[in-house]
Amino acid sequence: MALFEASHLHKRFGDQVVLQDVSLAFDEGRLSGLMGPNGAGKTTCFNVLTGRFKPDRGSVRFAGQDITGMAPRRIAGLGLSRSFQIMNLFNDDSALANVRIALPHVRRQGFNPWRDLGADSTANEQAAAVLARVGLAGKEHVLAKSLSYGERRALEIAVALAAEPRLLFLDEPTAGLGADGTDRLADLVGELKRQLTIVIIEHDMRFLFRLADTVSVIHWGQVIAAGTPAQLRENPWVQRSNIGALA
Ligand SMILES: Nc1ncnc2c1ncn2[C@@H]1O[C@H](COP(=O)(O)OP(=O)(O)OP(=O)(O)O)[C@@H](O)[C@H]1O
Ligand SMILES: [Mg+2]
Repeated sequence: MALFEASHLHKRFGDQVVLQDVSLAFDEGRLSGLMGPNGAGKTTCFNVLTGRFKPDRGSVRFAGQDITGMAPRRIAGLGLSRSFQIMNLFNDDSALANVRIALPHVRRQGFNPWRDLGADSTANEQAAAVLARVGLAGKEHVLAKSLSYGERRALEIAVALAAEPRLLFLDEPTAGLGADGTDRLADLVGELKRQLTIVIIEHDMRFLFRLADTVSVIHWGQVIAAGTPAQLRENPWVQRSNIGALA
């Protein structure tokens, strides 16, 4: 049975149908990809899968539990983390502080302006360990805004990893990265893939086909093809589109 399963999802915004009968399954320990043109509905799909939007119809199951319509925080509590297409960091805080605030035991304590977070040595050690996982050892005290673009993207992933998820969703992690940054990120994601289940939305087909076990193509809010990278390279639709040329 798949770790995560979406069945027959529909979502519309006003008159616009954005997801139409979308079914997806993500197997434990695998890296699954979602690709498709701009505006195809990929981010909306993530938003429905992670609880940010309720689907109009259809259901979502995670680890055997029906999570359809459940609040994002509760879903996150079950072991699902995500990064966002548009970066979502506290720019005036250090890399360490950005990760620390996302640690489950720190979040559970809630916001307390009188508590000196910096003095919580367990949290600091845990946050530093997460930073090391994404290649940011030594950058703990650098402000998020002073990191390079590639380091900021890695920090975003660290923030998502702080919750120790079972399942990690990444929305266009290579966006804005050059060739070197993309290669470094591919190495990082390749390493994380050995430790957890990952789903990636990505325009960079070279990146996705190198890492993914299976890929689903979304177009006009529908899944129009799915398979292994090798199967998709043979797919006539993928070959006809410029996605095929890129892959
Ligand atoms: N909150 C919203 N309200 C209304 N329309 C929305 C909303 N979110 C997305 N849409 C619309 O849904 C469609 C799909 O958008 P979505 O962001 O899911 O596409 P995408 O595949 O992620 O595209 P991109 O590759 O550019 O990120 C677009 O037409 C978009 O304008
Ligand atoms: Mg998007």
